[in-house]
Parts: sequence; C-alpha cells; structure tokens
Amino acid sequence: MELEDHVGDIIAKARKGLGINAGQAAEAANLNLMNYSQLEKNGSLEHATNVSELSKLLGLTSNKLSIIASGWTPVINLYKYKNIKQISTNEGMEVHCYLVWDQETLESALFDTGWSLEPIIEVINTYGLQLKHLFITHTHHDHIAALTPIRKKFPNIELHSSSPNAPERQRNHPKKIIKVGKLHISSRETPGHADDGATYIIDNLPSPSPRVAIVGDAIFAGSMGGASNHYELAREKVLSEILSLPEETIICPGHGPITTIREQQLVNPFF
Ligand SMILES: [Fe+2]
Repeated sequence: MELEDHVGDIIAKARKGLGINAGQAAEAANLNLMNYSQLEKNGSLEHATNVSELSKLLGLTSNKLSIIASGWTPVINLYKYKNIKQISTNEGMEVHCYLVWDQETLESALFDTGWSLEPIIEVINTYGLQLKHLFITHTHHDHIAALTPIRKKFPNIELHSSSPNAPERQRNHPKKIIKVGKLHISSRETPGHADDGATYIIDNLPSPSPRVAIVGDAIFAGSMGGASNHYELAREKVLSEILSLPEETIICPGHGPITTIREQQLVNPFF
C-alpha cells in the first residue's frame, strides 16, 4: 500500500500549519516559486533543493524527510495477526475502518465505518461475530459515512466518540475501559486534525499481537493528518498520546499503510 503522503504533501502540511507562505519556503529550499510549487504538488525533490534549510524553516526533521523521499514503506502488515481486520472502502478517497473481536465470545468492536456497510457485514458473517461497539476516531465524513446504515442494521450497538454533540453516555472518558470479551479498549484524546479526534488502544489481542492503536487521521505512516488550524496542538497530542506508547505498538491509521511506533520514531519527519 502506498504512503498516504509524499514529500510534497508533508512539506505543504507543515508550511500551512505554521502559516508560512510559499515564497519564504521556496527561498529556503533554494528553488524558484514555480519549482517549489511543483515540489509540493508531485513530491519529487530536485537535486538543487536545499532540504536541510527547508526542513529547518518548517520544523521538520531533515534526515527523516530524506528517508521518506527515498521511498520508505512500512514492513509490518496485519495479516499475521488474529482477530483484527482492516476494511478499506473507496469513494474517490480510500479510508480504512478496523474490526476486532474476542476469540471465545465472538463479540466484536468496529472502529469507524468507512464508506459502506457491506464489506463490514461480510467480515462479521465470515467469522460469525456479534457487533457490540462502534468507536469513532473523529466525525469527518469519510470515517462515518456508513453510520446510519450500521445503526439501522445493529440497533443495539453502543457508540463511543469524543464528539461534543454526542449524548453523555456515548462520550469517551480517559479512565474508562470497555471490555469486549477479553479485549480491553481505552481512549485518548487526540484533537488537532479534528476537534473531536480520539485514539483507541486495544489490549489483549491474542499473541503475538502487540498493543494496537487506532489513530484515525492523527498520524499516518510517514506523515500526519492535515491540521492547518491547530497544527501545534495536533503535533503535541501525537507526541504525548501516541508516540509515548511502547515501541512495538501497531499504529492503524485511517489512510495509508499500518506502521509501528518504532517505525514512526525513526522516519516521521513531523516528530
Ligand atoms: Fe479526517
């Protein structure tokens, strides 16, 4: 799976987050404005680009930006782990939701809905699961597009979110642990990309699965969700709430490939 963001996307997100204009960035990069705009658009670094000055201006880590530019991709994939599935749907934009379940009780929890109900039902039927919970990472449309059909099909499903518009009983609380059979699910507030951004931590998946973090768009493999209005908050929350997790933790983002905390500490230019 391709990374969600190329080097140009990363640079543009940092520049917009910091409120720096393209002219200033072009100057630091030692490019004319047209070539700089091309760089943001297609992500190809020309030889003449002053990556280190540009990174300094944008608060990015220069050597990590070079790692992304050289074509880094994560090594981990979810196939070897039991009782967790990534479900991808695409309506012009691809988005992932995730389904986890307990081996014995077959109780399951869904994280976001993606664009459509059908592929979720397919996994539920394949494994004979009972869908009990829906955890929402944030209420951007692509992540909750199938919410209404899911609630119609599973009228007793328990919703969990950090949306201020949700009724109190559906709201996440930092100390609350939701049990799904043997699985333990807790939440962390990760606003920035979205005001109601939440990250969910899943503990006790069967061995060899380490802890899993369902992060929505807070962080991607090699990048992070756009946060032009709350850039510093977004970075701060990723650092304190996500990158502080044990390094073997698997990061499951809403877009692009899955990765680990260890990998992101090594390659993510924003951190
Ligand atoms: Fe989003």
